[in-house]
Amino acid sequence: MRKYEIVFKSLAKVVKNCWQARKLLQLENSRESISLQAMRSYIKQACGNTWDIPYDNYCAENALYLKGIQEEMSTLLVLESAIDCEEYLRKFELAFAKYYGVLYALGVSSGTAALALTLGAFDIGEGDEVITTPHTYIATALAIVDVGARPVFVDIGEDFNIDPLKIEEKISSRTKAILPVHLYGNPCRMDQIMEIAQKYNLAVVEDACQAHGASLDGKKVGTFGNAGCFSFHPSKIIGGMGDGGMVITSDKKLAQRIIKQKEPIHHDTEVLKSRRTPACLDPIHVPFLITKLQHIREIIERRKKIAAMYNNSFISIPQLRIPNIETGCEHSYRNYTLRAEDRSGLRRYLFTRGIQAKVFYEIPLYLRKEFEFLGYRQADFPLCEQTYKEIISLPISHALKNEQVEIIIREIKNYYGIK
Ligand SMILES: Cc1ncc(COP(=O)(O)O)c(C=O)c1O
Repeated sequence: MRKYEIVFKSLAKVVKNCWQARKLLQLENSRESISLQAMRSYIKQACGNTWDIPYDNYCAENALYLKGIQEEMSTLLVLESAIDCEEYLRKFELAFAKYYGVLYALGVSSGTAALALTLGAFDIGEGDEVITTPHTYIATALAIVDVGARPVFVDIGEDFNIDPLKIEEKISSRTKAILPVHLYGNPCRMDQIMEIAQKYNLAVVEDACQAHGASLDGKKVGTFGNAGCFSFHPSKIIGGMGDGGMVITSDKKLAQRIIKQKEPIHHDTEVLKSRRTPACLDPIHVPFLITKLQHIREIIERRKKIAAMYNNSFISIPQLRIPNIETGCEHSYRNYTLRAEDRSGLRRYLFTRGIQAKVFYEIPLYLRKEFEFLGYRQADFPLCEQTYKEIISLPISHALKNEQVEIIIREIKNYYGIK
């Protein structure tokens, strides 16, 4: 790794052409993600330009709705007081609640905060267990640890989500909740999960941070459980320009408890006893969020069209397995993630072609250092481990042009030697 860093650093100074720089990367064959990142930053220093087709493109996505964002921004800029700002935020919360058909939508500071505040509002804490998936972004499990509880992992199914058939065997007297994650925008089998939760009287907190607008049998994810949690990180389908999140629920008592925790100074007469720092959604994100929410249907439709182009082209390639979507599920495609033979080779090849493919995530949660204390070991969740070795996510921004999608498809076919 060090050797390549040194070589590339000096080359990057000389090579002013991004394409040539990428060609040189074919030399690279050490641990993929760290070295790829290092190389990329050298290219950036040397050439300014980084990707021909980036994975995310916040600028292009915002540009699609710039007029609406600018109009909302001018509304925000003339607000005169904190109360005005709160009312402006309320307008977005009401629009979000209406879209989801729920009574409460509570803007919070991030998706992680949404999860932790909701678990906290159920009084879940020390000595309690929360069942979740090991194949997710680290924040899912960190939110559980944040309230003092213990994540209990269950292996995943072919759809990359928690396998409902394996949940019951993990329920103990300490289990207080199930936290399913609709990963990549692909809905979990919420019908089966809700049945189990009802049987054992468990709370269900849905991590829909990647799944805005996804649905199962026509019902949107986030509305099956006691609460649904969303992230508004700029990378999400509905994204602001920094951290933000939302909890939705129709349970008044739960909503009141969350409000007390996220705004302790306003709502808690015993503020000093509250362990929460303020965690409200910043109104500065609202112009982006409220505008994009108005266009959510077309955003998802565009993403589905790109996914269909990929699926149609990849289904006949034996080295690839397109996403597995269960009957009745409407994927919203925050990510288009498929299984690929020689995943690392494919990723490196795309890299040299200026196409940014990503691997979410490179290590199963239970094998990460942060969760060593849970005592899990290699091979505890075989499907999850196999999946981590094979997955690769391709660009699927709704701002992508068909020609760009076609380039990606062509390069992938090239890699596998298919005409
Ligand atoms: C599945 C999942 N859960 C939780 C989060 C946390 O959201 P945030 O980054 O807004 O805190 C994310 C964010 O990427 C996520 O993808």
